[in-house]
Amino acid sequence: MGDVTKRTVPAPEAGTDPVGHFSYQSAIGVVDPDEFIAVRDHVLSVTENSPNFNLNANHGSIPCHLVGLSFAHHHKETPMEMDDTFSNHSDNRTFEDVLSAHMSRRSVIVGGLATAALTFFGGSAVRAATPKGQIEAATRRVAKNPKIAFTSIPLQSSPMPTIAPEYTYTVLAPWREKLDGSGKSYPIAGFTAEQQENSVGIGHDGMWYFGDEKSGLLCVNHEYGTTQHIMGKSVPQSLEEVRLSQAAHGMSVIKIEKAAKGWKIAKSDKNRRIHVNTPMVFTGPAAKSDLLKNAAGNPVQGTLNNCANGYTPWGTYLTCEENFNGYFGSTSSTWKASADQARYGFSANGFGYDWHKFDARFDLSNANYANEMNRFGWVVEVDPNDPKSKPAKRTALGRVKHEGAEVIEGKNGRAVVYMGDDERFDYVYKFVSKLPWKKAVAAGKSPLDEGTLYVAKFNEDGTGNWLELSTANPALAGWTLDKILVNTRLAADLAGATKMDRPEWITTAADGYQYVTLTNNTQRGTTGRAGVDKANPTAVNTYGHIVRWLDSDKNVGTTFTWEIFALAKDVADAGGQMFGSPDGIWADKDGRIFVQTDGEQPGKHNDQLLVANAATRQFSRLFTGVKGCEVTGVAVTPSQKTMFVNLQHPGDGDPRLSNFPAPYTGVGGPVPRDCTIVITRKNGGVVGT
Ligand code: FEO
Ligand code: CA
Ligand code: CA
Repeated sequence: MGDVTKRTVPAPEAGTDPVGHFSYQSAIGVVDPDEFIAVRDHVLSVTENSPNFNLNANHGSIPCHLVGLSFAHHHKETPMEMDDTFSNHSDNRTFEDVLSAHMSRRSVIVGGLATAALTFFGGSAVRAATPKGQIEAATRRVAKNPKIAFTSIPLQSSPMPTIAPEYTYTVLAPWREKLDGSGKSYPIAGFTAEQQENSVGIGHDGMWYFGDEKSGLLCVNHEYGTTQHIMGKSVPQSLEEVRLSQAAHGMSVIKIEKAAKGWKIAKSDKNRRIHVNTPMVFTGPAAKSDLLKNAAGNPVQGTLNNCANGYTPWGTYLTCEENFNGYFGSTSSTWKASADQARYGFSANGFGYDWHKFDARFDLSNANYANEMNRFGWVVEVDPNDPKSKPAKRTALGRVKHEGAEVIEGKNGRAVVYMGDDERFDYVYKFVSKLPWKKAVAAGKSPLDEGTLYVAKFNEDGTGNWLELSTANPALAGWTLDKILVNTRLAADLAGATKMDRPEWITTAADGYQYVTLTNNTQRGTTGRAGVDKANPTAVNTYGHIVRWLDSDKNVGTTFTWEIFALAKDVADAGGQMFGSPDGIWADKDGRIFVQTDGEQPGKHNDQLLVANAATRQFSRLFTGVKGCEVTGVAVTPSQKTMFVNLQHPGDGDPRLSNFPAPYTGVGGPVPRDCTIVITRKNGGVVGT
């Protein structure tokens, strides 16, 4: 442990949840035992800290017919997953510019400030100075020094997961498991779109759990799956195959229960798949905009590239559409992206899904569907308890490549939503509802349909401003509100937002800070981009960093203060190891920060789940995934004694790298399946302790 800089902070407000999260999870109530089925057949018993585990004898549904298939290995951050290209050509300062000036100044003044430190380099305990006068305006709370006592494990490169010796895990809800609670899965041979619409999707990502210690509803995003992984071919060759690809995307709502051999999907009329062809509605200020209408008159359908997520105090789930651009393409060789389309990364070939060749909705050159592209890039609200309800695309939250939506209750009960737009040099956003959320809900309105959208500007002195994205902002003179909400990136450019290193998840911690992962930006310091300096010593920011801010006026204000929590490349965990590409992040109410990775790890090791102490910035490694996978998504039961995380694209879909969740046998073994991992402490303790 490094030196902890002591500080004096206000006492927490009586009765407030120290995290600012809501305790509605137990509102699901008692589950009808009749909805449950007997023991599922694919729960795995895992030997602690070992790559070997015992497969239940009934687990025979994973076919081996894909032996010998040629899988084009791709790294996690290929365009198939995310648009890594850079589309922000505005003149706004980059975060590096601001940060370098900010930290250079810090390094000069730090000795004169009682609360200052700048030792986030090297992983020791730190707390950068917060300008006096800003602290009082913010909602900082006391964070306990949390217990994190498990054995931090080394980095791994194995085809199976590894977990700290004090912990164990089981596997839940793999891709293709039926939603009927039978525990059976559809075989990959002959897998159809209809079967996929009735089974767990692929690309498990953000999620949340609405339930108690024994049962509840798990909402799981299905970000993406390559055609190679799903069908064993590089591109779809028919509309039916496109429908299969589309059905694999979206999200699942599944009732899960704790059974003798671990958690399993239970039968429930609430189980459902939401995918690219599911009927949806638009709500909020831009709902009726012409920008969301097509000449074809086709109904609003579908959600895709559902990355991170959020959940609300009124009991709903938020699924966020990230790299939607990559699913569109052009059948015309003369099509060229407009400036607006280029700002969102649309291109003639997209990410190679080829949907546009069989489904006109995704053909950018088809004039009848000219605005279909505007129908994606939203935060979508889903009521997991009402399987008949249409998911709602909340236009007030803007259209960007939404990573996640962190909802907390702000001053006077208003809903505050923090959101990242994950692309190099893109922005951090905040929405503040007009009405207290309870008042809105009581009036039958969504709290997310009326309010103010802001974009973040990080100033050199450690302060920040939330810049209003509305017709009241002189920088947006001539813009209508619906245009601002549909072309949010362009509005934010004009407003003067700060360019960031790919904002991913945001979480609110016990200390009152919001933490944002900035996963990486390999264009930093390259030709034409912001250069390195004392505070940004790496010409190519391969490993990313984490920033935290303290918002003002109980989170509804227009100013904030910020600091670096960690530069990933300089953080050493207990074993003297590192991490890179922070992505998923979730803070518990005790001061633990769970960090998940997606991408480049030191030594090309597997992605991982770490637990950081918010006070000391000490990192410990709890879990590592398998070769080629991303570790993402984090949800807990109310006691925090059961944690759900996801393994996305194990082995990059290639059985030569991993057959997970089946034991590793290599190319002769089954195609790996994206799935949820259920983590518990062997002594029944809180996960992270
Ligand atoms: Fe889907 Fe930005 O990660
Ligand atoms: Ca992500
Ligand atoms: Ca990512």
